[in-house]
Amino acid sequence: MIKGKKIILGITGSIAAYKAALIVRLLIKAGAEVKVIMTTSASNFIAPLTLSTLSKNQVLSELSENETWANHVALGRWADIMLLAPLSCNTLAKMANGICDNLLLAVYLSATCPVVVAPAMDEDMWIHQSTKQNINKLLSFGNHLIPVNNGELASGLSGQGRMAEPEEIIAWLEKFFLCKQELIGKRVLITAGPTHEQIDPVRFIGNHSTGKMGIALAKECMARGASVSLVLGPTAEAVPAGMEVIRVTSAREMLDACLTIFPQTDIAIMCAAVADFSPVTASAQKIKKLNDNITIELTQTPDILKTLGGLKNDGQFLVGFALETDNEKEHALQKLRKKNADLIILNSLRDQGAGFGKETNKITIFDQGENEYKFETKLKSAVATDIVNTILKVYHV
Ligand code: C5P
Repeated sequence: MIKGKKIILGITGSIAAYKAALIVRLLIKAGAEVKVIMTTSASNFIAPLTLSTLSKNQVLSELSENETWANHVALGRWADIMLLAPLSCNTLAKMANGICDNLLLAVYLSATCPVVVAPAMDEDMWIHQSTKQNINKLLSFGNHLIPVNNGELASGLSGQGRMAEPEEIIAWLEKFFLCKQELIGKRVLITAGPTHEQIDPVRFIGNHSTGKMGIALAKECMARGASVSLVLGPTAEAVPAGMEVIRVTSAREMLDACLTIFPQTDIAIMCAAVADFSPVTASAQKIKKLNDNITIELTQTPDILKTLGGLKNDGQFLVGFALETDNEKEHALQKLRKKNADLIILNSLRDQGAGFGKETNKITIFDQGENEYKFETKLKSAVATDIVNTILKVYHV
């Protein structure tokens, strides 16, 4: 609930700044206490007087004014949440790099509360590689993102980069305060999707995984306040916003990405359907149909879950999946032990609502004490909620 919450609204130089007045109005109406901090370029787009009137508080923008120092540390500690809306490309880049040349940035750097940003920029800027890197950096710091919309832009063009509407921002905050943020401060690593093992430049070994379950888990963990890194194999599914996404193709690349992230990870969920075998050598040229039969020598891919199970320390929690067709419980428990996982999530291909590409899943979870948590067939988003609830039950955050 927004009622009674202390909110810092940071406004930066973007035409969407005119909508900040409505954000303040809606926050005040919802019962929040609001303090506005503006960059100097923001005040070219909207008058501080409008915002001080609506927020019933003095608007701050300078580190010192009339020989009085604005206590950015106290401001950063006062708030329950710091919202930057609109967040310009320039302030985003400064936040990603620890630059501190105005009051807003000083407050950001000293904020002890959660920080959420609602960017606004033209599509070309939004899709630029540097913007993507800066957004991913912010997410890796544990900041939250309210995704941009697609629509009319200040340039007259239409596309991605439009700031979320004030009503959407308020709805995001309502949800944020309502939902128990049990995973705040936790870093979660999730693998999802298939891997493709290259045979030649046009062919690969893969499987039917779409990554839907792993993406649902990544969204659920993010909604619970975690900072999420999603290592995602080849899939046509939309890449979720608001988290660090590392695209990979092969099992080897997936392992390398996981090994980089795992040391800073609290919870790792290995949901990917990693291809089990990979050609020993990938042909540099397309293989010609010279004979009726050909032989491709295959070798096992690295087992990522097992590798992380071997590296895991006491504070880390590791979750694996087991997709089985027979002797399900026995095979799942074997995997739990062999790979040193803390939980194993079993789905059986014998269950109608489970399997690749489906919108639903039916799972049973086992922990190291062989406790069994059984669930009905549900939408993958609801299955993700059950999985995170079970993780929280077993792993004492
Ligand atoms: O051995 P199996 O593939 O059935 O085990 C499934 C679990 O192991 C899943 O959590 C999957 O993500 C993980 N796995 C892995 N690397 C592999 C094979 C499976 O991380 N090469």
